[in-house]
Amino acid sequence: MRPKAELHLHIEGTLEPELVVELARRNRIDLPTFDVSAIRARYSFANLQSFLDVYYENLAVLRTEEDFYDLAAAYLRRAAAQGVRHAEIFFDPQAHLIRGVPLDVVFGGLSAAMKDSDVSAALILCFLRDRGAEEAEQVLRAALPYRDRFIGVGLDSAEVGHPPSLFRRVFDIAASEGLHRVAHAGEEGGPDYVWQALDILRVERVDHGIRAMEDPRLVARLREERIPLTVCPLSNVRLRAVPSLRDHILPAMLDEGLVVTVNSDDPAYFGGYVDDNYEALRLELGMTGEQLDRLARNSFEAAFAYEAEHSGGARPTGGPLDYAS
Ligand code: ADE
Ligand code: ZN
Repeated sequence: MRPKAELHLHIEGTLEPELVVELARRNRIDLPTFDVSAIRARYSFANLQSFLDVYYENLAVLRTEEDFYDLAAAYLRRAAAQGVRHAEIFFDPQAHLIRGVPLDVVFGGLSAAMKDSDVSAALILCFLRDRGAEEAEQVLRAALPYRDRFIGVGLDSAEVGHPPSLFRRVFDIAASEGLHRVAHAGEEGGPDYVWQALDILRVERVDHGIRAMEDPRLVARLREERIPLTVCPLSNVRLRAVPSLRDHILPAMLDEGLVVTVNSDDPAYFGGYVDDNYEALRLELGMTGEQLDRLARNSFEAAFAYEAEHSGGARPTGGPLDYAS
């Protein structure tokens, strides 16, 4: 299996229906159904928002440190089996804080699972853009006591109507704390959102970014500055950002010389983990081994916290990746 880094993965999006049911039973939470197939049958989405509605609803089962541990441990096991050597993992603290789950529980469970895994891993704290900039700033300040547990900040949730420009201040604070910066832009929003993410938020990677291809000047900028794009092919199909995988613009992005990477986004919902995305590109788009190798190489180039000496599955034992010590 091709070694790769995964750079666009929401840990909450790895909550498989089987784990939803297990955690609901453990926490005595009532669900509309405990039938795993019935839960999975709901996973047909018209757009990003219709997915987010289900994604947030399922989070009700995550309550304790052990729940977050089990979630992250399950992802890291699957990632290892798919050739992932390093993962930069998004999490959505606001989605838990608003349900009364404290940051300490979230960081505690996720960090412990990362420490116990052979996959090198780091956390990126995402702001829910549809909850506004003021709350984002509050969350960042609340998370700063855990500054050594995360390497950067991101911006996710409902994109259109919540432009990057609104989040200038919180991204400035993150930069002054030495945090890396990424943002979802150009998934459903237009190229103007990608420009804002670059110029106003000073992001170092763009998450999705597929609609950047509509603006040749933007493509030139991304190419010249070698700004990576974390593209998620199966997600784009399932959320109808593209009509089908055969229509995906990813090969054209590579041909433009962009630093494209392949990622799984929310694999419990979109029908595959990261290597399944690579495999779909091979089978449905006819991408060659050479092209897929380039995508995998790009993933290591685009990583913030990958240290080559950790390749081969060794767990970091010191330095900035050793969060849980
Ligand atoms: N949160 C989880 N997955 C997301 C996606 N694909 N876009 C925006 N926000 C998300
Ligand atoms: Zn995403």
